[in-house]
Amino acid sequence: MTTDFARSFALAGRTVLITGASGGIGAHLARVAGRAGARVVLAARRVDRLEQVAKDIQWEDCEAMSVALDVTNRESVEAAFDAAEAHFGVVDVVLNNAGIGNGQRPLEISEDDWRAMLSTNLDGVWRVAQVAAQRLAKAGRGGSIVNVASILGLRAGTGYSHYCAAKAGVVHLTKSLALELARYRIRVNVIAPGYFKTEMNDAYFDSDKGQAYIRDVVPMRRLGVLEELEGPFLLLASEAGSFMTGSVLAVDGGHLVSSL
Ligand code: NAI
Repeated sequence: MTTDFARSFALAGRTVLITGASGGIGAHLARVAGRAGARVVLAARRVDRLEQVAKDIQWEDCEAMSVALDVTNRESVEAAFDAAEAHFGVVDVVLNNAGIGNGQRPLEISEDDWRAMLSTNLDGVWRVAQVAAQRLAKAGRGGSIVNVASILGLRAGTGYSHYCAAKAGVVHLTKSLALELARYRIRVNVIAPGYFKTEMNDAYFDSDKGQAYIRDVVPMRRLGVLEELEGPFLLLASEAGSFMTGSVLAVDGGHLVSSL
């Protein structure tokens, strides 16, 4: 049997919705989805910033649209999927990427801080995955949901107990959904990135402390670059990963296997 590798990793004819596409990992992978042939739905709260990413994608002769979406609000999520369907048809692939990541010591996290973290980073992922799956099942179509967790969902790190709990929830939610959505031909997988410099963490990684941390703790002694998430994303989103569901793909320069 011969395989056309380029074709199996392509997203031609698919509608791909990316949450948190206004910056960082989401904006980068939205451009990648466009280049892979997808109709791209950019979704986040800041529509003005989405428009710029959409223009970049359209500049390369790819199809893209922007929709306002707040993952913490059910109506907003339903409205975003309605808009996507009206323009491009049923969403086939979701990159559940929106997230927040402020570090806080455990004794200082308030009820509101905890709720805000869980509400965006765990409830939001569940809400978007559920809405996507309901619509795919109703349309009788298979699809792929790619959730973005973190290596902090697999191992503990200081200053992030609420974030760790939410991301661990995303990992286990992914496995549970994979189990139950397989009958609908909906695959659910999770990418667990190590550290990539984005708006979420650039101040820290520009500091001496941040640079020393990377040098001392990450086996590859550097941050990831966004291009290094392209292969994992396309693998899980496309037919190349057609027998993968419930998988956890760490992309972390070896951080998870750092010495104890
Ligand atoms: P970022 O801050 O650049 O992007 C996060 C995006 O999520 C932004 O577009 C933001 O507007 C959006 N967002 C936040 N709350 C939202 C809401 N309620 N509704 C809709 N959109 C919302 O950060 P980055 O680094 O690109 O993070 C993307 C994902 O990757 C997050 O889930 C983060 O936890 C995860 N991650 C990032 C790592 C890194 O080193 N950058 C490491 C591990 C995980």
